[in-house]
Amino acid sequence: MAFLPLLSTLVLATVSLAASILDAAAYSSASVIRRDVCIVGGGSSGTYSAIRLHDSGKTVAVVESRDRMGGHTNTYADPVTNATTDIGVVVFHNISIVKDYFARFDIPLTAAFTASNTLEVISNIDYRSGKVVAGVKFNDPSTALAAYALQLAKYPYLEAGFDLPQPVPTDLLLPFGDFVKKYALQDAVPTIFNFAQGIGDLLAQPSLYVLKLFGSQTLHDVITAGFLTTAHKDNSQLYRSAKAVLGQDVFLNTRVLATDRKGKYTKVLVQTPQGKKLIVAKKLIVAIPPKINNLGGFDLDASEKELFSQFKNAAYYTGILRHTGIPDNALIPNVEANSLYNLPQLPAIYDIDPTGIPGLLNVKFGSPYAIPDDEVRKQILAAVGRLGAAGSFNTSSAAELATFASHVPFELTVPKEAIAAGFYEKLYGLQGQRKTYYTGAAFHVHDSGLLWQFTEGLLPEILKDL
Ligand SMILES: Cc1cc2nc3c(=O)[nH]c(=O)nc-3n(C[C@H](O)[C@H](O)[C@H](O)COP(=O)(O)OP(=O)(O)OC[C@H]3O[C@@H](n4cnc5c(N)ncnc54)[C@H](O)[C@@H]3O)c2cc1C
Ligand SMILES: *[C@@H]1O[C@H](CO)[C@@H](O)[C@H](O)[C@H]1NC(C)=O
Ligand SMILES: *[C@@H]1O[C@H](CO)[C@@H](O)[C@H](O)[C@H]1NC(C)=O
Ligand SMILES: *[C@@H]1O[C@H](CO)[C@@H](O)[C@H](O)[C@H]1NC(C)=O
Repeated sequence: MAFLPLLSTLVLATVSLAASILDAAAYSSASVIRRDVCIVGGGSSGTYSAIRLHDSGKTVAVVESRDRMGGHTNTYADPVTNATTDIGVVVFHNISIVKDYFARFDIPLTAAFTASNTLEVISNIDYRSGKVVAGVKFNDPSTALAAYALQLAKYPYLEAGFDLPQPVPTDLLLPFGDFVKKYALQDAVPTIFNFAQGIGDLLAQPSLYVLKLFGSQTLHDVITAGFLTTAHKDNSQLYRSAKAVLGQDVFLNTRVLATDRKGKYTKVLVQTPQGKKLIVAKKLIVAIPPKINNLGGFDLDASEKELFSQFKNAAYYTGILRHTGIPDNALIPNVEANSLYNLPQLPAIYDIDPTGIPGLLNVKFGSPYAIPDDEVRKQILAAVGRLGAAGSFNTSSAAELATFASHVPFELTVPKEAIAAGFYEKLYGLQGQRKTYYTGAAFHVHDSGLLWQFTEGLLPEILKDL
């Protein structure tokens, strides 16, 4: 038993170390940052939270792991023409929260859709062979989309979040492929596939996730061509403007080392490029993908751990191609010969589409699971090479990626059994516990306007007692 005292000394040492690194007295006053709210994640939802709290007269600190704000918003600036094109988030709903938010920064919005007469849609190329697929015929999706709209109308709450009734409607748990057959939505599948990019295996996912990602506001904007985008084709302007407003309150290239949410104040120890800082705040907003491996350093309790470790994710990648020999106005979805609904089996390119910049095309690639970036780049360039080898285009062997972006993890989901067992009720039960609030796509949907509405809905609770 001689080892026991030694063991307890070690345990005590660990405990007191954890306590002391989060003790404000251990830091110079310049390293202790006292704010009303600490926000982890400076992407779409985190930035929205920060600006709204700032505009409500509250002090904030934003912790962002990358060298810029914006998350999935990513804008490519062409060094030749200086023209910009969005290769991440492109379109926004024409709703007041979107218009008000952009107006806050004087950023003009415009109708997003390119007039179709300037586009050449080449809708029968199989990227596996590079060849035109004979005999593919897509039916007009209007009737099937109307039938889909009737299904969406049964679940209006999906547009606001994951407040699911108990028991969860069984249709929401059906693999989407079965849902399609049950309601004769076949002709709408190519459209849904296109707008639900990043979801992984569309037909295998529980319908819940498809009905959220391709929800009623999105369907409305698809049918009416009502989406908005920034007039300057530079959605990152939103984040540069937000950064200018928030100034020193944004900590870029910064990661969380430890948190302590037990006391009156939430303490967040972060590693910034200028050294460690201790953020002491009244409340915490978590606006990052809440995968367990992305919550290192957080003092998670058993139920938080249990919930966050259930998330699986899909993967989404984008890039800019140049020197392809493909016409600038070509929109080329990936159409697979002999597959169900001619959907490409992922991992694969979703499509190549115009950027509006001479010589540059946008490419999007999806996978049900993460793949190393180099492997995705290779697969993209090999597919472009096949288009040339098959004679579909005069593609040159010099085709290259001018830029490439990984959007992993994308689309956090849990299995249908977990959904049925009340996963989202328990997840939403975390809101406000230990003065921690959650926003971002995993808590709602990968849709900027809807996420800002969701975040807005949390603010009254967050602002209480600040
Ligand atoms: C290619 C692509 C196209 C899209 N197109 C559209 C579109 O046209 N319209 C639309 O509405 N939506 C679109 N989306 C969906 C988009 O993801 C959402 O609109 C929205 O950006 C999600 O916001 P979020 O706050 O959940 O995540 P993000 O915007 O990704 O924000 C999360 C932030 O947290 C940071 N972070 C992550 N982990 C940590 C950590 N441990 N510590 C600190 N910081 C961390 C990230 O760097 C990021 O900045 C698109 C997404 C992709 C990938
Ligand atoms: C691009 O911007 C730079 C810096 O502002 C400028 O010097 C250059 O002339 C611009 N090029 C074009 C093609 O507009
Ligand atoms: C956006 O909605 C307004 C009405 O609220 C309408 O006047 C405008 O034309 C719409 N814009 C687009 C691009 O549909
Ligand atoms: C490729 O280029 C040749 C010579 O310019 C032309 O004859 C041919 O039509 C082009 N093919 C395609 C698919 O554009």
